[in-house]
Amino acid sequence: MPVHYVTYKGIKFPPAYNSVHSLSFAHNEFLVRDDDVFNITYPKSGTVWMTEILSLIRSHGHPIWNQTVLNSDRMPWFSTRLGLEAALSYPSPRLLTCHLPRHIFPKSFSHSTAKVIYTLRDPRDVVVSYFYFCQIKPTHSIVYFPALLAAFCLPSVPHGSWFEHVRGWMQMKDRENFFFITYEELKQVGILADPPAPNVLMLVQNASFTAMRQNPMCSSILLPADIMDQTKGQFLRKGICGDWKNHFTVAQSETFNRIYQEKMRGLDVAFPWDRN
Ligand code: A3P
Repeated sequence: MPVHYVTYKGIKFPPAYNSVHSLSFAHNEFLVRDDDVFNITYPKSGTVWMTEILSLIRSHGHPIWNQTVLNSDRMPWFSTRLGLEAALSYPSPRLLTCHLPRHIFPKSFSHSTAKVIYTLRDPRDVVVSYFYFCQIKPTHSIVYFPALLAAFCLPSVPHGSWFEHVRGWMQMKDRENFFFITYEELKQVGILADPPAPNVLMLVQNASFTAMRQNPMCSSILLPADIMDQTKGQFLRKGICGDWKNHFTVAQSETFNRIYQEKMRGLDVAFPWDRN
């Protein structure tokens, strides 16, 4: 069955939880507060992982909040229909989540000191993760890997271009209220703190892939089948770096590298995946 995406400012968004009104409200009317903290990602880059990390930081590493409150209630998706309500009634300081590209992020952000944490991931692993996500999401239509890869490069995938998303947000890289980190660096966190303080250890353990898989408040296991059909796979699928090597042919890898070089030209940042 064809999926009827919601289109806002030329970017298509999955239906069900997005609407033109919710996106337009987020863009034009949503009032950012100075003490807001935003978890921003392109899909499949570690959004839910960062939600766990930030929630655990807020609770000083103690997992009670993470284990008793759904992640979408801890960090509402303020640009969606349901998330907006939660965000508006959230007492400050708020933790908020979105996949919005920079150019349709709330206009009120420009005059605020709110913080943005931007997590990004090797785009090749993003495509692979997204491919498996499409299998379990009834609202995502592409289930043939070469077609998804082509759509990702064009780009004609929901949430728009990965390249534009990264370029748009990275324009903020020198701002004091902007912090970016890669999925690949997050994978190293466990060994960075050696020996870690007890709270840090608790945080690292509770934000680990294994712990998150066992926590129904973030594993997505509680979602109904019409939102996520988990008989076809798990949202927390593999949680590794470099799975693209198991999926890209040599030709696909070469083509992707060429497109990547073209689209990222002039961006003055070195990412971990630029090395391989
Ligand atoms: P895979 O499909 O490659 O396993 P998002 O939350 O942006 O949709 O990203 C989902 C991806 O992040 C999935 O990747 C998921 O497994 C991975 N992920 C989530 N929590 C993780 C963790 N604690 N450690 C490593 N990967 C994690």
